[in-house]
Amino acid sequence: MFIAMITVRNSNRGMFTARVEQNIPLCEEHYRLVLKVKEFPPSNPGQFVELHTRPDVPEPGYLITEWAPGARPPQLDAEEFRAPAPLLRRPYSIAAHTVDGAVSTVEIMYRVIGKMTRTMEVLRAGDSVSLLGPLGCGFNIPSGTSRVVLAGGGVGIPPMLYLAERLAKANIPTIALVGVQRKELLPLQVIDGGPSTLPVPRHCIEEFARHGIETIVTTDDGSLGVAGRITGALDVVLSEHTGPGVVVCCCGPTRMMQATAACAQAHGVTCLASLEQPMACGMGTCQSCIIKFKPPGSTDWVYRLTCTDGPVFNTRDIIWN
Ligand SMILES: Cc1cc2nc3c(=O)[nH]c(=O)nc-3n(C[C@H](O)[C@H](O)[C@H](O)COP(=O)(O)OP(=O)(O)OC[C@H]3O[C@@H](n4cnc5c(N)ncnc54)[C@H](O)[C@@H]3O)c2cc1C
Ligand code: FES
Repeated sequence: MFIAMITVRNSNRGMFTARVEQNIPLCEEHYRLVLKVKEFPPSNPGQFVELHTRPDVPEPGYLITEWAPGARPPQLDAEEFRAPAPLLRRPYSIAAHTVDGAVSTVEIMYRVIGKMTRTMEVLRAGDSVSLLGPLGCGFNIPSGTSRVVLAGGGVGIPPMLYLAERLAKANIPTIALVGVQRKELLPLQVIDGGPSTLPVPRHCIEEFARHGIETIVTTDDGSLGVAGRITGALDVVLSEHTGPGVVVCCCGPTRMMQATAACAQAHGVTCLASLEQPMACGMGTCQSCIIKFKPPGSTDWVYRLTCTDGPVFNTRDIIWN
């Protein structure tokens, strides 16, 4: 009944100059960046882009691109090291992707925490950014899935929005759980009187309600929705909805995903996690994003690359420490 969401890994990626359409403040420290990109390949929920705010085509003299025999090879200009933007791109999950003819609208949501995101915060309509993507493997929902429970924590919420849209199109019953530290850090639109203070799903978040998906919101400090961690609410939801057809899909801080995986395992439910391992190249070259992975049926473990083998893994196969 369900359509496989995933394509061959790393097919069809490219480097693109994207035009900023909007950079909308959502809540404290969070923005939605809406980008227009020509000829951007098809993507799947869970895939990501590597973004840089430096334009792809450097100013004349910015990079040395040709050199005489015996001369030094191409160098980064000293300006590069003094620039406010960092050297390396940063990864961001695709939060939405729509296509109109040759032009794609790609949306990401980001929290301002460091060097790159501070240069993203000041982007205005008409600016250009460089995108590499779509990268990685997305969520591969098993055939026979009867219900999906989404669990997004903090900056792990964006891929849940893209996934929610696809699940709704595939008519798979879905419940969304979103967890943040406090209400000022919820980058979503609260509607219809807001979430319940009990772990009862309601049409209370516009971004999910527009797909007919009910949501439970949790805040660590109890300032909105259910007080406490997202896994407390997940435990209640899985007590009511369990069985081999139920799949939990999660993204967020590592400890949240580890706790989510343990909760799903306790209920005998499959759990897919989109890992946000710090990474550099995003393309399987630098080996900076390794995790320990236990191949199904094996007693031994191997390394896997989060950027190309993931970022989505079945948590059954992840060795967390
Ligand atoms: C596959 C993937 C998808 C992601 N999707 C999103 C997204 O949709 N929205 C979003 O806001 N962020 C997302 N992130 C995290 C995002 O890449 C980082 O927030 C970003 O690198 C910050 O760049 P910066 O230069 O502003 O911060 P930096 O100056 O690089 O870092 C600031 C601080 O944050 C810490 N930090 C940076 N990245 C991470 C990380 N991945 N995990 C834990 N700590 C980190 C650093 O150690 C440092 O202490 C994703 C990461 C991955 C791997
Ligand atoms: S980020 Fe370079 S190999 Fe994964």
